[in-house]
Amino acid sequence: MQTFLRFLLVALFCSLRYGLVVTQSNCSCGFGKQGNVGNVNGFPMMAALLDLQSYKIKCGGVIIDKRYVLTAAHCLGGQTPSTLAVAVGENDVNTPFNTSAAAFHRIEQFIIHPLYSSLNYDYDIALLRLNKSLEFSHRVGPVCLPFKFKNTTMPGSNLTILGWGTQDVSGGPTFNVLRKVYGHMIEQDACRVNVPSLTNTQFCTNTPGDDACQFGFGGPLLYADKETGAFFNIGIFSSGHVCANNDQPGVNTRVPPLLDWIVVNSPDADYCPLQ
Ligand SMILES: *[C@@H]1O[C@H](CO)[C@@H](O)[C@H](O)[C@H]1NC(C)=O
Ligand SMILES: *[C@@H]1O[C@H](CO)[C@@H](O)[C@H](O)[C@H]1NC(C)=O
Ligand SMILES: *[C@@H]1O[C@H](CO)[C@@H](O)[C@H](O)[C@H]1NC(C)=O
Ligand SMILES: *[C@@H]1O[C@H](CO)[C@@H](O)[C@H](O)[C@H]1NC(C)=O
Ligand SMILES: *[C@@H]1O[C@H](CO)[C@@H](O)[C@H](O)[C@H]1NC(C)=O
Repeated sequence: MQTFLRFLLVALFCSLRYGLVVTQSNCSCGFGKQGNVGNVNGFPMMAALLDLQSYKIKCGGVIIDKRYVLTAAHCLGGQTPSTLAVAVGENDVNTPFNTSAAAFHRIEQFIIHPLYSSLNYDYDIALLRLNKSLEFSHRVGPVCLPFKFKNTTMPGSNLTILGWGTQDVSGGPTFNVLRKVYGHMIEQDACRVNVPSLTNTQFCTNTPGDDACQFGFGGPLLYADKETGAFFNIGIFSSGHVCANNDQPGVNTRVPPLLDWIVVNSPDADYCPLQ
């Protein structure tokens, strides 16, 4: 009885602190801290793609399994698996081992969606297969894949967008510490006014009131489940802006309709069957 109570308290503490989600299969995903920026390792699913030639961050990515990281296909243009590496557990990318959870992994294979178009960035999604398994902890772990949101479009939802914002194409500020902003998913028709090429496998976001202008492409857009607080990977930042008072919204790859492609192309992955 006492052991059980202790377990319950520990479980409660964990779920409050990290939004830990444990399913029947003893699998957890989507845990993180919802607090402000500056909470180191607050988003254990976040990964960085490092360009090994320049030692700069090329793009963001998100951990979906011990061997797989999801990113934008366009981030892999002109690269091969040996010219990039994946960093996990990082915070300030100016110092290579800024946290004790930081780890660097080599990439074995790029798996790019066959329908990816560099013209309108449709199907801008790719899997990176790592050459060895990540070590999961409360500071490095997978995002939840949105199986339970497969048939929903979620307009209006409030999404957490993560990135290091080092690709400064618009003259906005850059920063070395992982940042987050909140973005709203815009209705498709409303977004087509600004982005006429928008397809059904893309969605737009705006970020009212945030002063950050640039964010790392390939990074995740997360939806915090209302019941459990678990973070689900709803989108991948693909093109456009994440900028206050800007008519040009962020354009993102819509993950739920691409789940079948993800699952088929990562046959040895172990996803949480969270419903
Ligand atoms: C469940 O997870 C715990 C903590 O990671 C681990 O110690 C245990 O072996 C796991 N149980 C099974 C059945 O996988
Ligand atoms: C990590 O980055 C923070 C914020 O930039 C800095 O204050 C801290 O000294 C760094 N720690 C290490 C171990 O590099
Ligand atoms: C992963 O790749 C690196 C660099 O090519 C290599 O040194 C290492 O042995 C590889 N690890 C595995 C498990 O294949
Ligand atoms: C989504 O729709 C398909 C086809 O209508 C259905 O088979 C499936 O169960 C639905 N999935 C969810 C999670 O609602
Ligand atoms: C989005 O969610 C965050 C976290 O709950 C909250 O702080 C923020 O105010 C929300 N934004 C809007 C516009 O609802």
